[in-house]
Amino acid sequence: MSLTLLLRRLSYQRSQTLLAAVSAHTGIVKQIKPVQIVRNNSKQAGVMSDKFSLPTRYGTGEKSVWVEYIQLNLEYKPAVNLGQGFPDYHAPDHVRKALADIAVGDNPLLNQYTRGFGHPRLVQNLSKIYSPLIGREIDPFNEILVSSGAYEALFSSILGHVDTGDEVIVIEPFFDCYDFMIRSAGGIPRFIPLTPKKTSGDITSADWVLDEKELEKMFNSRTKMIILNTPHNPLGKVFTQRELELIADLCKKHNVLCLSDEVYEWMVYEPNKHIRIATLPGMWERTITVGSAGKTFSVTGWKIGWAYGPANLMRNLQVVHQNCVYTCCTPVQEAVARSFDYELARINSPDCYLVALKRELLPKRDYLVKILKENGFKPTVPEAGYFIVADWTQLENKIDLSQEPDKYKDYRFTKKFAKEASLLGIPPSAFYSEDHKYLGENFARFCFIKKDENLEMTEKLMKQWNAKKK
Ligand SMILES: Cc1ncc(COP(=O)(O)O)c(C=O)c1O
Repeated sequence: MSLTLLLRRLSYQRSQTLLAAVSAHTGIVKQIKPVQIVRNNSKQAGVMSDKFSLPTRYGTGEKSVWVEYIQLNLEYKPAVNLGQGFPDYHAPDHVRKALADIAVGDNPLLNQYTRGFGHPRLVQNLSKIYSPLIGREIDPFNEILVSSGAYEALFSSILGHVDTGDEVIVIEPFFDCYDFMIRSAGGIPRFIPLTPKKTSGDITSADWVLDEKELEKMFNSRTKMIILNTPHNPLGKVFTQRELELIADLCKKHNVLCLSDEVYEWMVYEPNKHIRIATLPGMWERTITVGSAGKTFSVTGWKIGWAYGPANLMRNLQVVHQNCVYTCCTPVQEAVARSFDYELARINSPDCYLVALKRELLPKRDYLVKILKENGFKPTVPEAGYFIVADWTQLENKIDLSQEPDKYKDYRFTKKFAKEASLLGIPPSAFYSEDHKYLGENFARFCFIKKDENLEMTEKLMKQWNAKKK
């Protein structure tokens, strides 16, 4: 039978594939991928949807806790949304004014495209901020990339460096997009959890630690990168000098890159200190550090971020960035640059927002810790950031989760609690790989960068909920 005749026959067999049939007859086209022959009939829609289903490499990204919980917030309308991490009050006046001035200002070019790898005034200011902290002069034009939020800096770092089959070590719980980004680059995430070394008494984020032996075992010749997140979301852990030295030594021993997500760098509570892993001996050469204007100036909707590191590593990020984003919003970059100008002028003053922010947040942290403790939760007190992870299992006998359809207990708890108490938190199992999700199920994550009146409302609602359950 000729190949043409064979193909014609196949067109009547809607769901057969070329691969099986052709190779069975001729044995010569084994490399052809399965193709579905589509007839123009009513079943076409079903076949088309197969063709246009989500590529398998995106499998893990289909479910997003953010998309789901933002929708829940709209549906349940909880009195207080302690879910997503953003302030419900204004950023500093000078930051907002900067953007307003630019929009109505005299310079028309500030509303046009700017330099692709970062608006000159912004990269220069980022260099001024970070050079003294890193202990070397950072070249604003070759060692810094401005991105569409820290999200895109992570994306460009991972897509720019991870190749098919490369392994990337991810510390759990992790900011959920890391997994998706690694897999889209063809990489293989290898997960290692932080676990609490004590379960009773007061627990802080310092009690959540890595098993050092396990970590060592994860490094091998296929390891390309480790992703570090310090200060950590959701735990608020600040990695210590010793922990960072262990990671640094393993990176150097196995020639591995460190992608350090430091978006919460300005929210570290005394006496803890944020240590940038790029400052450890031999680490500048192999570290890409990520920051966020959204977190720095409390303007998460502005979506400007950055990455900095040595020029040879940054080149890979530039290639990804220039082909998918090309350039970020000019007026917002200019406004972030002016905001840094303002802070640079008062960098040693206690009023500088980069040091004032943590002072503003500390009483909010302590207040939410108190509310949670008084209402049956066991919070892990964060050393940094604006999230509290709290164990809710002491409340298990007060809440009936049996009608909640979700697979993981923390999803069931946060949804039921939102319906009953009108308070929305985030289920931390979203920050674990499939095999380790059980590690997050006993917890809920609450955000405390909220107006005092909303924290007071949280206290009232928790008390009311508990009173009803007595
Ligand atoms: C750990 C971590 N990295 C990155 C980001 C993304 O930051 P941006 O809003 O600047 O994209 C977030 C946002 O919540 C985060 O928590």
